[in-house]
Amino acid sequence: MKLVHVILLLLCFYSSVCKFTSTSDTPQEDLLDRKCLTEKYTHLSCNKVFCQPWQKCVDRTCTCKLPYQCPKNGTTVCSTNGKSYPTYCQQKSFECLRPQAKFLNNGTCTAEGQFSVSLKYGKTDSEGIVEVKLVDQDKKVFICKNTWSMTQANVACLDLGFQQGALDTEGSFLTSEDITTNDTECLNVHCRGLETSLAECTFTKAMTNGYQELASVVCYTQNADSPTNGLFQCVNGKYIPEKRACNGINDCGDQSDELCCKGCQGESFLCKSGVCIPQQYKCNGEVDCITKDDEIGCEAAGHLRTQAIAFVPQEKMEILTADMDAERKRIKSFLPKLSCGVKDNTHVRRKRVVGGKSAHLKEFPWQIAIKDDDKITCGGIYIGGCWILTAAHCVRVSKIHRYQIWIALLNWFKPNSELKIQSVNRIIIHENYSGTTYQNDIALIEVKKRPNQRECVLPHSIPACVPWSPYLFQPGDTCIVSGWGREKDNEKVYSLKWGEVKLIGNCSKFYGKRYYEKEMQCAGTKDGSIDACKGDSGGPLVCTDVNNVTYVWGIVSWGENCGKPEFPGVYTRVATYFDWISNHVGRSLISQYNV
Ligand SMILES: *[C@@H]1O[C@H](CO)[C@@H](O)[C@H](O)[C@H]1NC(C)=O
Ligand SMILES: *[C@@H]1O[C@H](CO)[C@@H](O)[C@H](O)[C@H]1NC(C)=O
Ligand SMILES: *[C@@H]1O[C@H](CO)[C@@H](O)[C@H](O)[C@H]1NC(C)=O
Ligand SMILES: *[C@@H]1O[C@H](CO)[C@@H](O)[C@H](O)[C@H]1NC(C)=O
Ligand SMILES: *[C@@H]1O[C@H](CO)[C@@H](O)[C@H](O)[C@H]1NC(C)=O
Ligand SMILES: *[C@@H]1O[C@H](CO)[C@@H](O)[C@H](O)[C@H]1NC(C)=O
Repeated sequence: MKLVHVILLLLCFYSSVCKFTSTSDTPQEDLLDRKCLTEKYTHLSCNKVFCQPWQKCVDRTCTCKLPYQCPKNGTTVCSTNGKSYPTYCQQKSFECLRPQAKFLNNGTCTAEGQFSVSLKYGKTDSEGIVEVKLVDQDKKVFICKNTWSMTQANVACLDLGFQQGALDTEGSFLTSEDITTNDTECLNVHCRGLETSLAECTFTKAMTNGYQELASVVCYTQNADSPTNGLFQCVNGKYIPEKRACNGINDCGDQSDELCCKGCQGESFLCKSGVCIPQQYKCNGEVDCITKDDEIGCEAAGHLRTQAIAFVPQEKMEILTADMDAERKRIKSFLPKLSCGVKDNTHVRRKRVVGGKSAHLKEFPWQIAIKDDDKITCGGIYIGGCWILTAAHCVRVSKIHRYQIWIALLNWFKPNSELKIQSVNRIIIHENYSGTTYQNDIALIEVKKRPNQRECVLPHSIPACVPWSPYLFQPGDTCIVSGWGREKDNEKVYSLKWGEVKLIGNCSKFYGKRYYEKEMQCAGTKDGSIDACKGDSGGPLVCTDVNNVTYVWGIVSWGENCGKPEFPGVYTRVATYFDWISNHVGRSLISQYNV
C-alpha cells in the first residue's frame, strides 16, 4: 500500500508555458491543407479513409451496414444489452444503427459481469485517474500511464458519455486521499482510437509500473475552453491545440485533425492522400492509406512484415481480453474483393517509354474503340460487366444503332485476330453534360450481351479500376494516355498509340474560366510532345498506384490544338463521377473497398 500526495497539477492545456517539446519549428500553417479542411473530412469520409468492415460507403460517407451484410465467418460476441451476436461485425453494425448497445466481450453473454470505466480523484465528473473493471474480474484496476495517450483517452471519454472525447491526458490530480493500489498492478490498454468503448480495446497486465505511473484524463465538455489563437477546430466541434494536428494521433476523436495534411510531425507517416497515420501503422500488414503507400517498400526498409498488431506485448505482460482489433482485421479479409486494373503481364516486354509508342494488346486491356459507320471516332474504357466509359461528346443516343464497339483492337487498318465487335445496348449521357463548356463530358455505354452469355464480360479485356476518391493521385504523378487519335500534323493513325503525361495541378492558368477544377483534370508534358488529339476523345488517361493497379483517372475530353505545351490536354476527372457511375452500373461492379 502506498500513500500518494500528488500535488502536481500541471494541466498543460493551452497555456503558452507548456510548449510541446517534440514539435519542430515548422509553422503549422505549412502542415495543414486549408482548402482540404473546408471539406470537413472525418473518419467517415470515404474520400480519405477506408470504412470499417461494418460500414459501407454511400455518397462518400461511411454508413452502417445491415447486420446480414457482414461476412458470416467469426465467433460470438456479447453486447451490453445482454444479447449475443454471431460475429463482431454483426454486433458493430447493430451498434452502428442503434448506438446504445455497445460491445461487452468476446464470447456469449453470461449472467454476471459488466465492464465499467470510472474516474477517480478528479475535481469534477469529467476528469480523474482512470479505473476499469473488466468483465471477468470483480475489482477495479487503474490504467498504467506508459501506453496511455489521446487515442485511448478519447475512447474512455466516449465510453463515459463525453461525445467529443478527451481534452487532455496530462493532469495529475491534487488529492489528499490515498490511492490504495498495489503498486505492481495496473493495466496497459491499447486502442485503435475509433472504438466506442474501452471494452473493445486490448488490456494487458503490467507488473512493473509504480503507482505514480497511473493514467488520467480530462474529458472534453462544452465549457472546457473557448477558442483562442493557435487552436484547431475539429469537425466535431472540439478544439485542440493546432500543434497537435497532423501528428498521426487522432486527437479530435473524429480524426479530422489528421486528414488534411501536407506534412506530418512526430512519430507519424504521411500518406500520399494527405493523411497522417501513426508511424507504427507503416508496414504493419494492413493497408491504412487509401493510396496504399504505408505498405510499400517494407522489406527493403527492414520492417518486419508480420501480422503482428501495432503494439507488441512485452515480457511480463499477460493479455487479459480478446484482441478485437485483430478480429477487425480478420473480418476485412472476408469482404468481397474486386478484380480490376491488374494486367496479365506475363508475356509483355515493356519497351522504354518515350511517348507515342505503339501498344501491345496486353498493355491496354481496357482500351476499346468506338466505330461510327466506317471510322473509329472515339476511344473508350472498359470498367467491368457490360460497361464502357467514354466522353459524352463522343456519342449520341439517337445514333445508337450505328455504333460498333471494337474490342482488343490494335490496328484498325490491319485488324488483329483477337478483334471482337459488339453492338450497343444502351447509352447513358451525363444529364448535365454541356456541349459548349464540355462540363460533365462523360457517358456510359452498355454493350449487348452476346447470345449464350450468362454474365457479360468482354473478350481479351480487363477492366480498369474506377477511382473512388479524388486523393488517389496527385499533380505531378505520371499517367498514360492512349488512343488512335491524329498526330500533331493531323496525320491519321491506324495503330493504338500511347504516351506518358504528368497530371497538372490547377489548369486555370492555361484555360482561365473554361477550366472547372472539380470536373476536369489537365495533363501533359513540359514540351507538349505527348498529348491527346482529335480521335483520342473518350479514351483513357490511366494512372497506376504503388501496387501497379491501374485506374481510369481521366477521359480524353478537350484541349486547344494538340501537342502545344501552353495548352495541355483536358480530361474529365473520373473520380468526381464515381457515384454517378456507381448508380448506373451498380455499386458492386466498381467498388473495390467499402462494400
Ligand atoms: C468462412 O466460413 C465458411 C463456412 O463456415 C468456410 O467454408 C470458409 O472457409 C470460411 N472462410 C475463410 C476465409 O475462413
Ligand atoms: C499486491 O500484489 C501482490 C502480487 O500480485 C499480491 O500478492 C498482494 O496480495 C497484492 N496486494 C494488494 C493489497 O492487492
Ligand atoms: C473469441 O473467443 C473464441 C472462443 O470463444 C476464440 O476462438 C476467438 O479467437 C476469440 N476472438 C478473439 C478476437 O480473441
Ligand atoms: C445536374 O445539375 C442539377 C442542377 O445543378 C443538379 O441538381 C443535379 O444534381 C445534377 N445532376 C448530377 C447527376 O450531378
Ligand atoms: C487556380 O488558379 C486560379 C487562377 O490562377 C485561381 O483563381 C484559383 O483560385 C485556383 N484554384 C485553386 C483550387 O487553387
Ligand atoms: C510494379 O511494376 C514495376 C515495373 O513493372 C516493378 O518494378 C515493381 O516492382 C512493381 N511493383 C509492385 C508493388 O508490384
